[in-house]
Amino acid sequence: MKLYSFEKSYKMFEEAKRMVPNGIYGPRSPYFLTYGSYPCFFTRGRGSHVWDVDGNEYIDYMCSFGTNVLGMCNPEVDEAAMDQMKRGESFTLPTDRWNELAAVLVKQVRGMDWTAFGKNGSDVTTYATSIARQHTGRKTIINITGAYNGAHFWCSHSTAGIPEEYRAHVCSFNFNDLGGLEKLIGEHRGDIAGVMLTPHHHPAMADQVLPDADFYRGLEGLCKSEGIVFIMDDIRCGFRLHENGSHCYYGCEPDIICFGKAMANGYPISAITGKAAFKPAAEAVYFTGTHFFAAVPMAASIATINIINRDSVIKKLFDTGVKLRDGMLAQAKDAGLQVRYTGHPVMPFMRFENDADFSVNRLFCGEAARRGVFLHPHHNWFVCLGHSQADIDRTVEVAGECFKIVKENK
Ligand SMILES: Cc1ncc(COP(=O)(O)O)c(C=O)c1O
Repeated sequence: MKLYSFEKSYKMFEEAKRMVPNGIYGPRSPYFLTYGSYPCFFTRGRGSHVWDVDGNEYIDYMCSFGTNVLGMCNPEVDEAAMDQMKRGESFTLPTDRWNELAAVLVKQVRGMDWTAFGKNGSDVTTYATSIARQHTGRKTIINITGAYNGAHFWCSHSTAGIPEEYRAHVCSFNFNDLGGLEKLIGEHRGDIAGVMLTPHHHPAMADQVLPDADFYRGLEGLCKSEGIVFIMDDIRCGFRLHENGSHCYYGCEPDIICFGKAMANGYPISAITGKAAFKPAAEAVYFTGTHFFAAVPMAASIATINIINRDSVIKKLFDTGVKLRDGMLAQAKDAGLQVRYTGHPVMPFMRFENDADFSVNRLFCGEAARRGVFLHPHHNWFVCLGHSQADIDRTVEVAGECFKIVKENK
């Protein structure tokens, strides 16, 4: 096959750099992928496929960093969104979708009694920290070393332009390390408001870590005895591992859970859910945003969650993820390469042994992109309902070619 080239993408990227800081910022920057071997701009998508500005078609395993759980342009979700769009998107007051989606989420997310809506994941993770602080009258928030909870000052991975005071009351421990948590509790006794965890550890540029069998039981015991609020950041895993929240998959009982990404199949909305005891604190904290009340994403979310429940989406995602994993690992083995493939099959992270700077992974993923398979060398991938058996077969075939290239270049 003729390998893809990206002339228009990089011409547009140069243009963008003249007008926009860094041209494209955040994790969508071509520098976070494999510069030169990936497109910079897409034009359209359908199901599991996306097309770039040079006309190249890809099987997409990033799904907009996890939002497109059903695949791009799901007709039922889009119809619900368009139906609302015809009546209006942004109003001075909330619409009739507000209570509808609230009722869906309170019913859907096991153990949660109330919900509120934001736009991005960061809106609701930050709100969760304020609720925990307001509820307990304490300042310190604990999160997981290397975890991403959003781009707000208290948790941003960058320190540029952020006074250190904003992080003064935030500390971290390693996922699964109950001893590390106990140590922090000892050091900050009486001042810890909340502990925020992703359901399993899914950092960028590092293996994913699943919870040990007794981790959540131990953590919940410590939270209860110390009066610490247990917050789950389910932004990335939510509606992928389990219909009712990833806490059901891992068997734990958070006080507050944050959702975003997959909850509306790509329409911009996030949500926080909580137990009744935390509602007074949620009411005391000022939380708002001009676009938090927009109706179209709410209609899309209602439709998305309905499909997830009706069409056994979670089971299908799992089966697809297992096929992808087994195919990739078989091809790596055939090529005589050792890879680490970690995390849950619906959102795996792959890297090569002895590839500390990820240059081998960049070569592999860049070659895959040139052959029409969009993976990511530094971030976990996502499977979606749109991925067909033909997609998986083609992906595994391409992976076989790319593993061989890696082997030859090692
Ligand atoms: C686990 C987790 N929490 C929070 C966020 C922040 O979400 P957003 O980028 O929508 O603000 C992300 C985004 O990737 C995430 O993966």
